[in-house]
Amino acid sequence: MKTILVTGGAGYIGSLTTIELLIANYEVVVLDNLSNSSPEALRRVQNISGEELAFYKADLLDRPALESIFKAHKFDAVIHFAGLKAVGESVQEPVRYYHNNVTGSLTLFSVMAEYEVRNIVFSSSATVYGDPDSVPVNEEASLRPTNPYGWTKLMIEQILRDQHVADPDWNAILLRYFNPVGAHPSGELGESPRGAPNNLMPYLAQVAVGRRPNLQIYGNDYDTPDGTGVRDYIHVSDLAKGHLAALRRLKQGGGVEAFNLGTGRGYSVMEMVKAFEKASGKEIPYNVVARRSGDIATSFADPTKAHRDLNWEAEKGLDEMCVDLWRWQSKYPEGLQ
Ligand code: NAD
Ligand code: WQD
Repeated sequence: MKTILVTGGAGYIGSLTTIELLIANYEVVVLDNLSNSSPEALRRVQNISGEELAFYKADLLDRPALESIFKAHKFDAVIHFAGLKAVGESVQEPVRYYHNNVTGSLTLFSVMAEYEVRNIVFSSSATVYGDPDSVPVNEEASLRPTNPYGWTKLMIEQILRDQHVADPDWNAILLRYFNPVGAHPSGELGESPRGAPNNLMPYLAQVAVGRRPNLQIYGNDYDTPDGTGVRDYIHVSDLAKGHLAALRRLKQGGGVEAFNLGTGRGYSVMEMVKAFEKASGKEIPYNVVARRSGDIATSFADPTKAHRDLNWEAEKGLDEMCVDLWRWQSKYPEGLQ
């Protein structure tokens, strides 16, 4: 495994993973249509790592563009981050989500097959579990997404399973991320949402830096210790390292395997507010509003399988997630332009 195609490599998780790949001496080619990212992210990736990468501004749906990239490079594996990821938007615009994520992935897989690239790490999501029957959630739990975004993830997982049946030389690692948060410890790179953030931590950070007046907490009447929702937040640098562990695993073959990437520990919204206040030294004004439609009370991972088979474990705790997010947010209040 030497040369890796990273789709969506200009995005939040893709850019942080690309840093880790470059530091580990992989050759990296990034494909991104920049629909939710900036080329500045890739400039920073190169500054932080001290290494160069190749970048193609291209869309997954553009088959001729994909073919010319596969013609120009001999890839050992693909890490496939590219996709749309806003749950609410996926409910409003399901066709756009299915087309971009599923048709885009099909186009990619078809070009991979044509060029005999048969190793892939895919960004799946804990959202494939929907509302789990019990926590912690392991990889054997029922798969029942509750929104189109989640369905795109499950469909792509299934396509890769079927592809392995058709051609056993295909190997795929399906990484089911829990709640990625934080930023690169340098403060130079992090999440830079366009418009109002959908997720808790970027929203909290924008309130702390004064871009938004207050946080709305979506319900405090859940069946949880303090009534607010509980999630498994994982530092994006730990998550990035999980992809390198997945590449090492792919080298051994193994067909299609799914792994949870989480810490195994859940924190409530109120705990996150307190931790972020401590890290930033800022008070976070908030008010409690109605539950957000589709939200669940509690979700956190059983990460045992990733520990056992990938030799990977999250190392960074809540304080580091908040301190690193705050370093990035306070240095670049407007994110990447
Ligand atoms: P992101 O939006 O920052 O990155 C995705 C990148 O893909 C963006 O740079 C975007 O421009 C690009 N892209 C989208 N559609 C494309 C297309 N058709 N062709 C080429 N490029 C395209 O998101 P992220 O948070 O870095 O997420 C990366 C992956 O991880 C996504 O697949 C997402 O669904 C998955 N994931 C994210 C989270 C999360 O909370 N951030 C959780 C679980 C899974
Ligand atoms: C966390 C908690 C909210 C915002 C989503 C996707 C999931 C995955 C990760 C991609 C919940 C509460 C939030 C706010 C709040 N993404 N909250 N006020 O919903 O666990 O997961 O992102 O795959 O698929 O569904 O993350 O950060 O949106 O919410 O009170 O302004 O914070 O109710 O309890 P979620 P989140």
